[in-house]
Amino acid sequence: MSFAATVLTLYPEIFPGPLGISLAGRALAEGTWSLGTVQIRDFARDRHRSVDDTPAGGGAGMVLRADVLAAAIDNAAVDGPPHRPILAMTPRGACLTQSRIRMLASGPGVIVLCGRFEGIDERLFEARGIEQVSIGDYVLSGGEVGALVLLDACVRLLPGVMGAASSGDDESFERGLLEYPHYTRPVEWEGRTIPEVLRSGDHAKIAGWRQAQAEIDTRSRRPDLWARHSGARVQPPSGARHEKDE
Ligand code: ADE
Repeated sequence: MSFAATVLTLYPEIFPGPLGISLAGRALAEGTWSLGTVQIRDFARDRHRSVDDTPAGGGAGMVLRADVLAAAIDNAAVDGPPHRPILAMTPRGACLTQSRIRMLASGPGVIVLCGRFEGIDERLFEARGIEQVSIGDYVLSGGEVGALVLLDACVRLLPGVMGAASSGDDESFERGLLEYPHYTRPVEWEGRTIPEVLRSGDHAKIAGWRQAQAEIDTRSRRPDLWARHSGARVQPPSGARHEKDE
């Protein structure tokens, strides 16, 4: 069973973009996964083909209409395999994680709705059982780049896509830690040498060193991951208010 992705967007020409090259592109050509795009504007109801309107309550920008998006989603849902989750790319969503990606990659595929403008009419999400997802705590000009990120992360996990290098347990995030650092020849470069232990041939010692490095780097770069991994509590920033202070 292949992984079927359908992307709903105002800019279908963005796809497959980077997903058409390298491993993802080959897997696409071989039918390991499929990618369809739907032009949201094709589901507009007026002769101006409008997909957005002004925000209720006032304010800047425009909001994508629930009725237009629902029509596009309903069409995509009947067109592809059943039971695909529907995700909307928006900075208001929960951040994607490797474990969520792994779950999505093991399913029948995804329907991905790309937001644009100020946002999407909130009523749509509950009405169509849509999960809102973000790729990070920053704002993009639209959900399309986020959709590319989501699909890239899923596709590389599909059976056969990565070959021997595939999604080992050592990868960053798989064990709740960042991955250990990598080195390759030359042994000395600009006066810097590859750590001695990696040249020792002692596999137990190498594994121990890699584990220690993964822990050191996670602790210093990602205290949030480290806290979860080690079961410790994250220290609130000094001056931060506690709930009980309120
Ligand atoms: N659209 C705009 N910003 C986004 C983000 N951070 N993640 C996903 N979609 C977005």
